[in-house]
Amino acid sequence: MKEPVLTVKDLYKSYGRVEALKGISYSLKEHEILAVLGPNGAGKTTEINCLCGIIPFDSAQLYYRNELGRLPKEKLGLCPQELIIWKKLSLIEQLIYMGNLYEVPKNISSLRAEELLVNLGLIDKRRALAGSLSGGMKRRLNVALSLMHDPEILILDEPEAGLDPQSRILLRNFIKIQAKKRSVILTTHNMDEAERLADRLILIDHGEIIEEGSPSYMKERYSCSNLEEVFIHLTGRSLRD
Ligand SMILES: Nc1ncnc2c1ncn2[C@@H]1O[C@H](COP(=O)(O)OP(=O)(O)OP(=O)(O)O)[C@@H](O)[C@H]1O
Ligand SMILES: [Mg+2]
Repeated sequence: MKEPVLTVKDLYKSYGRVEALKGISYSLKEHEILAVLGPNGAGKTTEINCLCGIIPFDSAQLYYRNELGRLPKEKLGLCPQELIIWKKLSLIEQLIYMGNLYEVPKNISSLRAEELLVNLGLIDKRRALAGSLSGGMKRRLNVALSLMHDPEILILDEPEAGLDPQSRILLRNFIKIQAKKRSVILTTHNMDEAERLADRLILIDHGEIIEEGSPSYMKERYSCSNLEEVFIHLTGRSLRD
């Protein structure tokens, strides 16, 4: 069997007295789409940010393939939960700028930017300032920015938040195509989306993985007709953060 692209072992992270992650372990295979699910405040964003080196963790062993250590930044493409775009740059300008930051050769950068704009339905806005885009378009631009350096692992934190059904379908198909070229980790609160997209799910609650497996395994294991039922069965009905 092929080695995993990424392995996370015993990831712990506290914010003061809040134990956000209490020993998360999993691995990611090549071309796999892994969905990380969990209620608000479960620790999904913390987990992703620790993985990407955005915030320090308390302890963990992270492996890129079989190599223990910090994950090589250029292998990871993060689309963060909070939009990070340059409002006063046009779409094409900021994609090229992002390419420059990763030292992507200019000719490749231009072609890649155009291709991403086409595939994410943004090409007509290529010269518009990002600040003038609708919320859904900003989200899709956020996704495009994470791919300018052609990362081996794409990490999307709630990429479809606020998207209309049309954009959601576009993004879902886009992510499926991405998985032909790379591995994908995504978080979502949309159970239908998770079921349609993911090969495997990890369900986090209170900083711990409480279940993992394919969508069909989860439904069969808990005799539920859909993932939302599984989610509520395992995490309860009380409100979180
Ligand atoms: N900067 C911070 N300082 C203190 N506590 C934090 C900080 N960021 C997150 N937390 C806490 O850590 C826990 C995990 O938060 P996190 O944002 O990782 O959850 P999440 O699963 O991504 O939630 P959501 O679905 O709402 O995005 C929560 O209890 C949250 O309040
Ligand atoms: Mg989050």
